[in-house]
Amino acid sequence: MKTTLTVNGTQHEVGHDPRRTLLDTLRDDLGLTGTKKGCDHGQCGACTVLLNGERVNSCLCLTAMHDGDEITTIEGIGAPERLSALQRAFVERDGFQCGYCTPGQIMSATAMLKEIAEGSPSYVSDDLDAPKLSDGEMAERMSGNLCRCSAYPLIREAIAMAAE
Ligand code: FES
Repeated sequence: MKTTLTVNGTQHEVGHDPRRTLLDTLRDDLGLTGTKKGCDHGQCGACTVLLNGERVNSCLCLTAMHDGDEITTIEGIGAPERLSALQRAFVERDGFQCGYCTPGQIMSATAMLKEIAEGSPSYVSDDLDAPKLSDGEMAERMSGNLCRCSAYPLIREAIAMAAE
């Protein structure tokens, strides 16, 4: 028995091991090593991918439960010769130090900007006149993505730049 996934627009059939995580399938079976393994316990966000457009920690997803689903990884967001606006902003604002968390940060920020564009309600303010995406709100919405180098201010600057 196989599990069918569409990853970055390409359909793949992968093994149906009920214990295999989506993170291991992406990295080890499909060679998409842009998605990083940090804690492997849903704590750090390094493994963030989009699952049917929503951000998830792929280390917490069992591949066998996602037959027919669409996955987007960092490889599907852009490439060195065609960076997304968010990726360009991370480069321009130095939104990283060691870079290990960067793919997860970018996947999460990509989803966050889409949530906001679609009118997702504010987590931290009921004030309708408040700026659309304050620094505090951005910190809250990105709190699932840890950066061991603590480059948070530059990460938020990059996201704010891309959001303009
Ligand atoms: Fe998945 Fe840390 S590796 S949250």
